[in-house]
Amino acid sequence: MLGTAQGVRIGITGLGVHVPDKVLTNAELAEIVETSDEWIRERTGIRERRIAADDEALTDIALPAARAALEDAGVDAADIDFLVCATVTPDMMFPTSSALLADTLGMPNAAAYDLLAGCTGFVYAIAQAYGMLASGLSRRALVIGGDVLSKILDWEDRSTLVLFGDGAGAVVMEPVDRGGFLGFELGADGGGGEYLWYPGSGSRHFENPESFVKMNGREVFKFATRVMVSSASEILAECGKTVDDVDVYVPHQANKRIIDYAVAKLGIPPEKTIVNVDRFGNTSSGSIPLALADARADGRLHDGALVLLTGMGAGLTWGSALVEWTNGRPS
Ligand code: UT7
Repeated sequence: MLGTAQGVRIGITGLGVHVPDKVLTNAELAEIVETSDEWIRERTGIRERRIAADDEALTDIALPAARAALEDAGVDAADIDFLVCATVTPDMMFPTSSALLADTLGMPNAAAYDLLAGCTGFVYAIAQAYGMLASGLSRRALVIGGDVLSKILDWEDRSTLVLFGDGAGAVVMEPVDRGGFLGFELGADGGGGEYLWYPGSGSRHFENPESFVKMNGREVFKFATRVMVSSASEILAECGKTVDDVDVYVPHQANKRIIDYAVAKLGIPPEKTIVNVDRFGNTSSGSIPLALADARADGRLHDGALVLLTGMGAGLTWGSALVEWTNGRPS
């Protein structure tokens, strides 16, 4: 799916993030599985990640992020009429985490559902909210992306365990007077689905509910380097922009080597690229909002900045969004 914004301007007016308190370092992981700080840093760029406590589930992590986004936007929860939460680790399949969050936040007027698109979930969810807002069906949306992958990893499998962390982010989206989203490119290839899968999680392999996330790292790496470049190139061309127009590049934080490859191939200067995989690992749907928050903390999200977001992950899925950043509420 590839398309550009038509007419109505829809932007991000609030941003909030949250990660669990517990930091798990590479050295600590090396006490659990046969690995080393050196191997993890060289192959992935990750130094540490955050891990949820035993009693912390997705909504516990998403709630502070959602509250921070609402406060940042200066919006009352009751004025949100659409809540979508991208995650592959909801508290449970149903009730949805979105419905639980809408209730806790106090959103009696909101439609709420979870969206499942692997690590690309957040990009899919903002595209979904864009469509709802641009059509006029929604007036103000809250989009959450978050995961607690530590709960579904095999803690004996070093090839997946070292890569992931837990975290969440949220954005308020609404009509804006200037800037806003320029377009989206989204795709899926179920043919590669078995390269990153969680077989016991649904009705196909229900006899083995104990199963964990499994991954063919080399195949996902090949896929990732390909789509990170093709998706970004396609959305830029469709919106009549070039890499030179991009002020801030926010790639999915899976592996520093994947980011480096995309940056080199696209020709985006590394200094325009947000990297925090060293501190958080791959937080799946939380990855892009956490990186956006870092971009803002660094003072890079100035009014009018052209921001390129690209995600990829299980499905296999990928997606890009191009947004002209708007600071301040619509008048
Ligand atoms: O959102 C999408 C999520 N997934 C991804 O983005 C994953 C994409 N893939 C990758 O990032 C990389 O493929 C990995 C980081 C997973 C692996 O890096 P690699 O350079 O592709 O390593 P490899 O799989 O080719 O494995 C090289 C060696 C193997 O040993 P042998 O067969 O050469 O003896 C592995 O068994 O490294 C070994 N290995 C490890 N060694 C120490 C695999 N995991 C580890 C580990 N510590 N944690």
